[in-house]
Amino acid sequence: MQRLGIYIHWPFCKSKCPYCDFFSRVKKDINQEEFISSYLSDLEYYRSLNDNYMVESIFFGGGTPSLIEPQYIEKLIDKTSSLWKCKDNLEISLEANPNTDNGNLFADLKQAGINRLSLGVQALNEKDLKFLGRTHTLAQAYKSVESVLQNFDNHSIDLIYARPNQKPQEWEEELQNACNLGLKHLSLYQLTIEENTFFAQKGIKSAEDDIAEELYKISDEVMKSFCYNRYEVSNYAQKNFECHHNLGYWEGFDYVGIGNGGIGRIHITNDIYNTYYPRKQEIITKTERAEELLIMGLRLTKGINKDLFMKNCGVGLDKIIDKQALNILKKDGYIFENKNNIKVTEKGNFVLNYIINKLVGL
Ligand SMILES: C[S@@+](CC[C@H](N)C(=O)[O-])C[C@H]1O[C@@H](n2cnc3c(N)ncnc32)[C@H](O)[C@@H]1O
Ligand code: SF4
Repeated sequence: MQRLGIYIHWPFCKSKCPYCDFFSRVKKDINQEEFISSYLSDLEYYRSLNDNYMVESIFFGGGTPSLIEPQYIEKLIDKTSSLWKCKDNLEISLEANPNTDNGNLFADLKQAGINRLSLGVQALNEKDLKFLGRTHTLAQAYKSVESVLQNFDNHSIDLIYARPNQKPQEWEEELQNACNLGLKHLSLYQLTIEENTFFAQKGIKSAEDDIAEELYKISDEVMKSFCYNRYEVSNYAQKNFECHHNLGYWEGFDYVGIGNGGIGRIHITNDIYNTYYPRKQEIITKTERAEELLIMGLRLTKGINKDLFMKNCGVGLDKIIDKQALNILKKDGYIFENKNNIKVTEKGNFVLNYIINKLVGL
């Protein structure tokens, strides 16, 4: 029985952050009951396409899924477990924004069945919270973290760094403060300026490449000193607290995507399909899926397990990699390869996109 992740996307937010290119809209008075009822039927639909799955994770992402009323979260979880076999201790994550914390939010989400909470803190200083257009204050961020820690055993926060003019020493101190909170997991994202965002229109630039590299190195050092292990380019966890759902994407397991920002990759008989809203699916070739998995897998610190790769997409890694480019990248110290694995080295991490382009022959 194949492993499956369920991604449930909630496309609404209380406000639009100036850097954010995710599919999200600011809209009040959403008829949640109507939305959720269509989500429940979509789950049934995907089950009708393939019921031979074992669900290992559910992830509520967004947008701002902490705006979904907890009673509906519970319904979606119950529905999933009535449709497919589910692993014991199923990981059920939700991304929450501190601006939705009404004091009871995290207790209610726990009650609804969430067992992993990821909080979008983004910065631990007042000035940068304002710059990033966040509508929570530093005090609110700390208060929400405290409540997350009280209610969950498995928790994470997101921080965005490589902000314009960010000073290495300030980032080091900010990150140390974050590490001192006692969370099991941290996601540290370098600010990217995406086209059509408010930041792009205003000509705002993230930190220069050499500073961004320095900030990345500092992140690694600080995280290591607090016993967090980098298991993916932007993700750090204490032992056994990696995000199982996201690992599923990077390792190439199938997932169902629910909601109008949710895409999926599922097998129907022996073919692989790209699924997207509303209940559309198109076949993708095994080579297309293999290239996708190469891009995802190289983000992992442990790299790609060749057997698992073959099992998940039906194509051997050696069939899609440009051998000449691989040999040069190995000789130059960007890639490490043995019989079972292929991975990007520390040095290679700074030029990951270049490496990927070379390997797929671009
Ligand atoms: C899908 S967003 C949802 C999080 C939630 N809505 C919130 O804002 O708290 C997931 C994460 O992506 C990161 N992110 C979004 N846009 C980004 C950008 N342009 N650069 C770097 N990180 C970004 C943020 O850290 C954010 O928490
Ligand atoms: S960062 Fe989060 S809250 Fe801000 S617009 Fe994007 S999804 Fe919404």
